[in-house]
Amino acid sequence: MVKLGVNVDHIATIRQARGVDEPDPVAAAMLAEFAGAHGITVHLREDRRHIQDRDVELLRKTVKTRLNLEMALTDEMIAMALKILPDAVTLVPEGRHELTTEGGLDVNLLRATLKQKIVLLKQAGIVVSLFVEPDLEQIKTSYKVGADYIEIHTGSYCEMRTDIDRREQLRRIELAISAAGKLGLGVNAGHGLNYRNIGPVVALKGIEEFNIGHSIVARAALVGMERAVREMLELLKG
Ligand code: PXP
Repeated sequence: MVKLGVNVDHIATIRQARGVDEPDPVAAAMLAEFAGAHGITVHLREDRRHIQDRDVELLRKTVKTRLNLEMALTDEMIAMALKILPDAVTLVPEGRHELTTEGGLDVNLLRATLKQKIVLLKQAGIVVSLFVEPDLEQIKTSYKVGADYIEIHTGSYCEMRTDIDRREQLRRIELAISAAGKLGLGVNAGHGLNYRNIGPVVALKGIEEFNIGHSIVARAALVGMERAVREMLELLKG
């Protein structure tokens, strides 16, 4: 079955809006797991706008499935990953002024640093995934720098407003899945996916895990985390 990683960043966004201690992303992660989520994802940003160090430390102790730490390729974050030892790290680009991760990592540009840091993470037993656009060059380089997985950025597909444009983006994703498969890279996907647009991406086959945050947290605010996760899991059955 296709797996679901639930990103609980925006539970922390609500908490930080008031600077208090609730809602707690650690509690949200537990509820997501009770509902059948296969993993929990958090993005510890340099500016700590939502997830805090304390959250990652506690999640490491409490997550029973798999903890995926999304983070920028900085010395601070590499040190954090080596201390916390999440099950997986997903390296993402990070811009201070962006509302959310805006594009894939430029693996070609960063190849020398990536190669070095990926060795360190893998030596510590951490699975390494690179968040990339569905672009064949980026995928080939992801393989060359030693990544275990790519996470395909589905943002462009999600932003398209016509069927023709959506089909074109789906085709790019399909080619990316196939290229990664031939290189032996595992394939995850995420960004911008919701209850309405995920169906055609699931139907492509070949994606091991979807990482979904905003749409699940938005629905959870109205119907509860467990129901929101169960409804998404139903859609992943295809
Ligand atoms: N995957 C990655 C690498 C991300 O950066 C994000 C956003 O934090 C997501 C998945 C989840 O995106 P969304 O919140 O739009 O579901």
